[in-house]
Amino acid sequence: MAETVWAPDGSNLVVHADNASFLPTLPDGAFTLIYVDPPFNTGRVQRRQETRMVRNADGDGDRVGFKGRSYDTIKGALHSYDDAFSDYWSFLEPKLVEAWRLLADDGTLYLHLDYREVHYAKVMLDAIFGRECFLNEIIWAYDYGARAKNRWPTKHDNILVYVKNPAKYHFDNEEVDREPYMAPGLVTPAKRERGKLPTDVWWHTIVSPTGREKTGYPTQKPEGLIRRVVTASSRKGDWCLDFFAGSGTLGAVAGKLGRKFVCVDQNEQAIEVMRKRLGTKAVFHGPPASPDGSGGSLDGSGGALNESLHSVGDHLHGNS
Ligand SMILES: C[S@@+](CC[C@H](N)C(=O)[O-])C[C@H]1O[C@@H](n2cnc3c(N)ncnc32)[C@H](O)[C@@H]1O
Repeated sequence: MAETVWAPDGSNLVVHADNASFLPTLPDGAFTLIYVDPPFNTGRVQRRQETRMVRNADGDGDRVGFKGRSYDTIKGALHSYDDAFSDYWSFLEPKLVEAWRLLADDGTLYLHLDYREVHYAKVMLDAIFGRECFLNEIIWAYDYGARAKNRWPTKHDNILVYVKNPAKYHFDNEEVDREPYMAPGLVTPAKRERGKLPTDVWWHTIVSPTGREKTGYPTQKPEGLIRRVVTASSRKGDWCLDFFAGSGTLGAVAGKLGRKFVCVDQNEQAIEVMRKRLGTKAVFHGPPASPDGSGGSLDGSGGALNESLHSVGDHLHGNS
């Protein structure tokens, strides 16, 4: 394994890197929770028929795939293309295989997608994790923005939840925030007071464009949503990972809840936003080495970008 900047008793990390090159530097089983919110496959510039494989539970499929399992070939799965990635699924799949490797035996993956991708991702994760490791599909429902007139307006995202080991995974709903009963008159005052446990449908507003939480990062997710994920599926002191970190919502929440975190993003703007949001709570690493050998400091000393981010941070904190 390549040299790693992560240590079990080390600091929280924000890493400026392509996750494809960074994830292999992390050791097996290091993380109790992985939450990822990859870029959606929104390009839709082409469509094509492609051969896909799903796991054959009886083990008599016509191909052998990940973890030596047997796969049936499913012809005709529609593959959409993204503007940025020639094949979205071949972009995502190796990262999800890495997520499986990096999860501890009691660990959980939350994969945040939208209604266009989630069904393909479910098939893929069934193949990688095994169907028995599927825990939930969480629907995040919100009510914001324009409403389509020619179909039901789509106002939800989908979060697939898979556990590494269905016999050992950690899940504790005691700390999770509770909700008001829909018919409070039908329950006892004590129950009404305590509220009810959330189901797999989470009503939550998007990040308010004028609220305190807003970082300015376009795809920022609400802390309230991620708080549920972190409280239910990790304990204080556990390591949490987000390798499509954006504005660092996972890191912000994990830090507030006493968990350790690693946030990875390849976009300089994301790193700048995280510098402002998490600057004192994490050590920053990167940028990735350029072909001429410059940059690429992964030793904690920072490197060129880190220095420029220090100045951005100072500037943002009014120190310049
Ligand atoms: C939808 S955003 C994540 C938003 C995040 N959940 C938040 O609350 O701010 C997806 C992020 O993935 C990053 N990304 C895309 N491909 C990547 C890659 N190969 N390695 C690292 N980051 C990547 C993008 O730069 C973007 O910031």
